[in-house]
Amino acid sequence: TQYTAEINSFDTTSAEELEQFRIRFLGTKGIIKDIFDEFKAVSPEEKRTLGKVLNEFKQLAEAKYQSLNESIADSGIKTEDSKLDMTLPGEGFEVGARHPLALVRREIIEIFNKLGFSVAEGPEIEDDWHNFSALNFPEEHPARDMQDTFFIQKGGEKGDIALRTHTSSVQVRMMEAGQPPFRALMPGRVYRNEAISARAHCFFHQVEGLYVDENVSFADLKQTLFYFVQELYGEGTKVRFRPSYFPFTEPSAEMDISCTICKGAGCQMCKYSGWVEILGCGMVDPNVLENCGIDSKKYSGFAFGMGIERIANLKFEIKDLRLFSENDVRFLKQYKTAI
Ligand code: PHE
Repeated sequence: TQYTAEINSFDTTSAEELEQFRIRFLGTKGIIKDIFDEFKAVSPEEKRTLGKVLNEFKQLAEAKYQSLNESIADSGIKTEDSKLDMTLPGEGFEVGARHPLALVRREIIEIFNKLGFSVAEGPEIEDDWHNFSALNFPEEHPARDMQDTFFIQKGGEKGDIALRTHTSSVQVRMMEAGQPPFRALMPGRVYRNEAISARAHCFFHQVEGLYVDENVSFADLKQTLFYFVQELYGEGTKVRFRPSYFPFTEPSAEMDISCTICKGAGCQMCKYSGWVEILGCGMVDPNVLENCGIDSKKYSGFAFGMGIERIANLKFEIKDLRLFSENDVRFLKQYKTAI
């Protein structure tokens, strides 16, 4: 009982003191060992009652040792069991960030997903057919110069091989592979032979879209793109369509939106016009449908294409295209998102 009181009142934060406690009570030459040795000599009747008391006493000492040992380990003071100091500050680590172009691409895709558009991809190295001929660019036609092409191989079994200049090539692949309805987006990297500056680069990223079905009209095109712009830049963003020319669409248009930065008041981004061009679009030329094995009497469709960089410039007010590909972490770090 004298020992019971001693054990109950014992407390320490020192590993050495706790070790002494262990040796004194629980050690191989400790008090408990001694008592158990003496216990062997008592009569069987006494053993029954005494045994219970002794066991409780032993458990008390063990429990005390364990709880003190844990609290010493927790507080980080070294014990034999734990050499780890949990109180030291941890080493910090940086959370990565998504690339702004990836963020914008995802946002564009999510908006069109709501309208039922899926995503299609294709190769970056293309043959002449998929990048040009099927899209109604006549052989030797100056329209091919509209897009300064990086050729990989001139002539050959499949004609010229080049880095794709637009992801319209994926539209061709998709239409060749099936029958309408088609409703898909074609995101991807495209290449053009241009001198690198703040406003141009030798590659950029596009999202093109294609919708082909029975009775698709220009009104569908306008409403789809209008909805897209409201979702992306906020309600009240104005759009306007200007007639344009692309070999693969007829009629063709370019779409401008009211400048999202100056709200139409005039700034550098919109060259003080209040409008910024964000995409090209039009009704798929019947020749293109026929080239891909689709009945142009039965089906019609629209297509559009935009540069992700341009969309991101307006969203984040980035003025120099080169920032997107220089991998400067000070730039990239600004676009931290939850996921
Ligand atoms: N392919 C065109 C370009 O790269 C964009 C576009 C796509 C225009 C679809 C009209 C229709 O400039």
